[in-house]
Amino acid sequence: MLLLGVNIDHIATLRQARYADMLESPNAEPSPLDAARDAVAGGADSITIHVRGDRRHMQETDAFAIREQIDLPLNFEMGNTEEMVAMALRLKPDFVCLVPETREEVTTEGGLDVHGLYESLEPTVKALQSGGIKVSMFIDPDTPQVEASSKIGAEMIELHTGCFANAFGEDRASETERLHAAAKLGHSLGLQVNAGHGINLQNLPELLTVPHLAELNIGHTLVARSVRVGLEAAVREMADAMKGYGE
Ligand code: PXP
Repeated sequence: MLLLGVNIDHIATLRQARYADMLESPNAEPSPLDAARDAVAGGADSITIHVRGDRRHMQETDAFAIREQIDLPLNFEMGNTEEMVAMALRLKPDFVCLVPETREEVTTEGGLDVHGLYESLEPTVKALQSGGIKVSMFIDPDTPQVEASSKIGAEMIELHTGCFANAFGEDRASETERLHAAAKLGHSLGLQVNAGHGINLQNLPELLTVPHLAELNIGHTLVARSVRVGLEAAVREMADAMKGYGE
């Protein structure tokens, strides 16, 4: 069964747009914790949050509230910094997904260069795993990145589907092929293969041709759709559309 991880960062983005300086105010809305509850009601299999170094959306308090009050696996996305490793070891999420993080990017724009940054990533992977946390690498669907993720000892990879999602026509076909190859390689190396970024109801059918997928992490389109139908219904639509994968 293909699992749905719901990324609720953009609920916090909306709250920060008005209340970044008044987070203690009873007016501060919308609540990421309530959003997580709605995602659970809609059939989410896990909740994903990313506390960024610049705290542009999720705050540490959101992460701990969700960890304590939501009874689903928590996927904690983080950059490779000492601050975030320390936070993860206190938070104890079920999974960490290591992502590249720069201040300028609007969202996570490319995969983590596990191959090039191997030396600096290895101690982080070991530290997280020693704390009982499984580690996923958010990587572009390229052979050196998949191989480096296996070598470094990660349990999972999350294939970056941004290029796939933003390509159309022939370009889409070749991006889909790239994902097929990376998923097959990851699976053959014993990695759990997840995927995320830019997935929506329009591109989902093509993505579902990719073999060996275990979990999709989806955020933006669900939060966007929730403006029309509410988050619970948006999550349910997506979960329904994912049914039948691999059968
Ligand atoms: N996976 C990772 C590692 C991400 O950084 C993001 C975006 O925050 C997502 C999945 C979800 O992408 P989207 O919001 O485009 O669905």
